[in-house]
Amino acid sequence: MYLISVKSLKPNDILGKAIVSEKGQVLLNKGVKLDEHYIHILYKYGYQFVYIEDDDTKDITVEDDISDQLKTKAIKTIKKVFDIVTPAKDDNVDDFKQIIKKIEKGEIKKKLADSPFIKSIESISYDIVNSLGDVKVLNGMASLKRQDNFTYQHCLDVTILSVALASKSLYTKKRLVELAKGCLLHDIGRILINKSLYTQPRKLSSTEFDLIKKHPQIGYLVLKDVSQVGIIASHIAYQHHEQQDGLGYPRGLKGNNLLPVPDKLAEEGYIMPLAEIVCVTNVYDALVSPRVYRSAYTPDQAFFIMKRMAGKQLNIEAFRVFSDMIPAYPIGTTVYILNGRYKNFIGVVSKINQENLTRPTVRLLYNASKRRISPLEIDLIKNPILNITGVII
Ligand SMILES: [Fe+2]
Repeated sequence: MYLISVKSLKPNDILGKAIVSEKGQVLLNKGVKLDEHYIHILYKYGYQFVYIEDDDTKDITVEDDISDQLKTKAIKTIKKVFDIVTPAKDDNVDDFKQIIKKIEKGEIKKKLADSPFIKSIESISYDIVNSLGDVKVLNGMASLKRQDNFTYQHCLDVTILSVALASKSLYTKKRLVELAKGCLLHDIGRILINKSLYTQPRKLSSTEFDLIKKHPQIGYLVLKDVSQVGIIASHIAYQHHEQQDGLGYPRGLKGNNLLPVPDKLAEEGYIMPLAEIVCVTNVYDALVSPRVYRSAYTPDQAFFIMKRMAGKQLNIEAFRVFSDMIPAYPIGTTVYILNGRYKNFIGVVSKINQENLTRPTVRLLYNASKRRISPLEIDLIKNPILNITGVII
């Protein structure tokens, strides 16, 4: 199977992976032959990418980092928790002070604390930590996000990336569970901000942008007194947009560019050690996800952007470990050959080479004239001269 933009789907394409809604319903099953109607449904639901398969790519399988069952359970639970804090339609406010007033009334916090779903966040956190175990390399592709369930999917993807990254830094299981809880809930503050601000294709005014920059603080204020969440998880929500140079938001905390961050450096004015990890994974997941104002970046483009941010904005050590565990060209993604004998050919990544995540094995499917060819397998470790770039077809 391979990943393809919904815009490029044609009738008779075969779906390589089932499309499952956040309620756990299978919208379209694996193996379904797509027709105009199905393609229209995928558009309507806001999907940007799907996996399709054909005879030449049948043997390429994309493994999920956690089971579909756990994924669906996590998404459902994040949605249930976020629904608790979702303002009624006529109760949307655009002013920070009014939002704080609302939180201070205490109703939202009480509803959260009384909800069985907030307890499930803890058990799901354990399940994610257990199922990632001592994973060495992640699949690394973001979930197939849709515009309207973006936040829940993003929270789950950031959790998977962060737990995997932190487990490489020898954090205890207890710490990893705290980290997972914080990540699953890290964007809860967005929910209290008028949703329309996030879906505007236009440039936001500085007041609107300032309010969006308050979402980590709003999230923290909602979570901090809910005993099932705990202080570490609520601070992860508070600090996930901070930067090494102190130019992040909302408080301008600084980082240490070290991983793990020594406890003695976890002091006033600095980003909390576990949050340093989330500041990196949050940027990656945002880059590889589509937004209303831009398409998704491919993982190799995301790494290129993050490399320039490392040291100043992103914790350089955390980024180094991160780039050693996420393939720049994940299995099932499409690449373009930039030079050599196969210049301008297009292929699909069929195998990751564990010893060098930037040099996968590629199955060439199209020649330079964009004509389909008999598949040709190229191991980039054995062909060191060939350069590739990720493309979205
Ligand atoms: Fe955020």
